[in-house]
Amino acid sequence: MEKNLDIIEVLKTYKQNHVINLLNKLEAEEKEELLDQLSKIDFHQIMELYDNTKKEIEFKENKIEPISYLDKAKLTKNQKEEFERLGEQIIRSGKYAVVTMAGGQGTRLGHTGPKGTFKLDVYGKGKYLFEILAENLKEANKKYNTSIPWYIMTSRENNPETVAFLEKNNYFGYNKKDVIIFTQKELPLVDTEGKLLIGKNNKIKEASDGNGGTYSSLRESGSLADMKERGIKWVFIGGVDNVLLKMADVSLLGMAIKNKVQIASKSVVKANPHEKVGVFCKMNGHPKVIEYAELPKKMAEEVDKNGELKYGESHIMCNLYTIEAIEKVSKEPLMYHCAFKKNSYMDENGKEVIPEEPNSYKFESFIFDAFEFFDNIAILRGNREEDFAPVKNKEGVDSPKTAKELYEKFWRTNSNILIER
Ligand code: UTP
Repeated sequence: MEKNLDIIEVLKTYKQNHVINLLNKLEAEEKEELLDQLSKIDFHQIMELYDNTKKEIEFKENKIEPISYLDKAKLTKNQKEEFERLGEQIIRSGKYAVVTMAGGQGTRLGHTGPKGTFKLDVYGKGKYLFEILAENLKEANKKYNTSIPWYIMTSRENNPETVAFLEKNNYFGYNKKDVIIFTQKELPLVDTEGKLLIGKNNKIKEASDGNGGTYSSLRESGSLADMKERGIKWVFIGGVDNVLLKMADVSLLGMAIKNKVQIASKSVVKANPHEKVGVFCKMNGHPKVIEYAELPKKMAEEVDKNGELKYGESHIMCNLYTIEAIEKVSKEPLMYHCAFKKNSYMDENGKEVIPEEPNSYKFESFIFDAFEFFDNIAILRGNREEDFAPVKNKEGVDSPKTAKELYEKFWRTNSNILIER
């Protein structure tokens, strides 16, 4: 009882009176469940994050410089062969694992269900995003005579549906013992006045805490321990929604080994100065990605003496780590950024509101914020037509339509197909 009174006090302090009203309306069991959820929320943290949404981001005190990279298209024959040999050795010997981050909400795409269950309209009958990833890995397995462990990160919200979908589709022919599904953590969503959103189930609406949650979730879920048991030395982490993602690129892996770095990443050149992607740079001597929303206009447009964008290497969620690097960053707290997104909620009259426009803040840590814990990163500049066809928006740029075109074009021009398409 006392504990409940404490929670009411906390709700009052943080001006969450609508939650108190809801508690007063609920039956005993539902009330208990909500109180239990509330007792686990760090209100101080959430309100601090909300207050930060009103502050401008300043880079003034930091020394920002362009970052160096190797262009895959310009590698010498020797470099190419050496990278491929080094990378191949690791994959063939079973020391390579991949992680797919599939815990996002996919609000811009507006697909009901986990993003990986979205079917891209290719070749008439279509392919699910998870299917495309599975094919990419099966192809690598065949080529390197191995079975790469595939870790899939879900959110609490989409986990049951993701598991059911993969089961129903028999993991798209992937070796089931090598598919490991784990779940990431969540944080509450707040509206523009800092009020917690209420979900349909009369609970506080929470959402996954960003793809930066991958590292700690790998450790906390036991997946990192599982990797170590399997003798994994290198871990690739990629998104669920790039239909040209190469999850076992031996050039990237070999380059990382050759350069003796702990982390590596594939980039593509920004399509235009204001493309909505994060870009690589060095900040105070450490690798860093600046998100598009946080990149000052002047920096976005700056060009070097060759007329190339100074900050033009886009981060495409194509990252590689040593197992030690994952271990290290899994223990480091990452900062939270804020994303303004569309989220449905229940209003004070218990009626569901489905917004047409973004209405709420989601707090997310970003996978690339861990880069600054390292002195160096090896960046391999890939090629947009070969490496990057994201499914982000319902229409327009980075939509199913553009991804379909890029995917079909890629497979039309690449005849070395090992898997039937
Ligand atoms: P995005 O940042 O593009 O977000 O995710 P999203 O959730 O897919 O889409 P929007 O912004 O709501 O429209 C990039 C990658 O990171 C994963 C996504 O699943 C995607 O593969 N991600 C994102 C997570 O795994 N967890 C998160 O909390 C956020």
